[in-house]
Amino acid sequence: MPTSAILGLQWGDEGKGKLVDSLSAQQDFCVRFQGGGNAGHTVYPPGGKIVLHHLPTGVLHGNCVNVMAQGMVADPLKLLDEIAEVEKRGLKLASRLKISDRCAVTTPMHLTLDAGREEGETRVGSTKRGIGPTYADRYDRIGVRMADLLDDAALKDALERAVSVRACQMTAQPDIKAMHATLRAAGEKLRPYICDTALLLAEALREDQRILFEGAQGAMLDVIQGTYPFVTSSHTTAAGIAAGSGLLLAPQDVIGVSKAYCTRVGDGPFPTELKDVRGEQLRQKGGEFGATTGRPRRCGWIDLFALRYVCRISGVTRLAITKLDVLSGFGELQVGVGYEGWQQPGLPADIGRFAALKPVYKSVPGWDEDISKLRSLNELPANARALLRFIEDFVEVPVGIVSVGPEREASFFSEGAPKG
Ligand code: IMP
Repeated sequence: MPTSAILGLQWGDEGKGKLVDSLSAQQDFCVRFQGGGNAGHTVYPPGGKIVLHHLPTGVLHGNCVNVMAQGMVADPLKLLDEIAEVEKRGLKLASRLKISDRCAVTTPMHLTLDAGREEGETRVGSTKRGIGPTYADRYDRIGVRMADLLDDAALKDALERAVSVRACQMTAQPDIKAMHATLRAAGEKLRPYICDTALLLAEALREDQRILFEGAQGAMLDVIQGTYPFVTSSHTTAAGIAAGSGLLLAPQDVIGVSKAYCTRVGDGPFPTELKDVRGEQLRQKGGEFGATTGRPRRCGWIDLFALRYVCRISGVTRLAITKLDVLSGFGELQVGVGYEGWQQPGLPADIGRFAALKPVYKSVPGWDEDISKLRSLNELPANARALLRFIEDFVEVPVGIVSVGPEREASFFSEGAPKG
């Protein structure tokens, strides 16, 4: 069965959207299986830049069916805006968008709860899209689900149940009647898209359709495997694909995406962060500002030790290294290859130890040329090729894709980094 996945290997924002955009042209299905409006997949199709939050990136290709599977959370109002934005470009979604009837629904109450949490001492620097509280309600069995939006009584029951448990966490009581009216109206607009997507995908697998699973955020933000508690609330590693789509499957091709450097938005430890002028240079040159919140991203060197760990966990078969062009003109480059005194093969589970990690770097020579207009691996400067080779040797996964710019054509595909 021709199944593949594109997963972030860092703290999100690795440039997955662009790769999914390139690869989904040849897919029958493009599936989001976790996360929600916290994602910001920026793509530059011929009509100009577009940022997708809920919708799978395959919506930009007319033949691809796009699935928002059951592991996702969705804010119906924002989702409707996004659908309208895409359809404005002449891309009709009527028969190409399928939303799971089991998706967890973010209500205005969840936005209030998220914002409230972020004002307190236990903040994690969330995107304030209500993601944490929506997932929490799912697992506390008081969540609102997409199917509830289609029925007056079911929605009333679901809202009353959630409010009865959460009211004590809020200073003002949520207005159930107002939420009901807004969400029911949104439900009617979404009705044509809502279905049992697990069954749909099971049938697609049986028919050997080509399915691409599009990850959001990155492995280091995984709710269990990542830098807990400074993580998102979903399963961002390959382990999330099966439960998030409701199927037993492991994609044959798992493309793990990493920038040639590293960024993080929100709070939490980041061992290779650069708090000096070079961090600022990376931010400016790489345009490192959040696609969802506009926040400046924290920037630093690539951490190959962490990358190797998450590649093992997710069974990554090929690496995609993005934004290599941003490193032009940086002089000597550093790559993280371990941490002082840390002898374990994995990463520490406890956040205190993780925060104390001091990186060990290897210096590698940089290059000055502008490489953003190059269109093949063999044209890259020798030092850029050597860096790619070092990455694949260290991580023990071949570099299959390299990207040097935002345009669709600025990605090279190979079976591994070029030698020589
Ligand atoms: P939440 O997902 O909004 O609850 O935020 C939890 C953490 O994940 C925060 O540090 C966010 O900045 C981070 N986060 C969530 N979504 C993304 C993303 O798409 N890119 C990068 N960071 C993200």
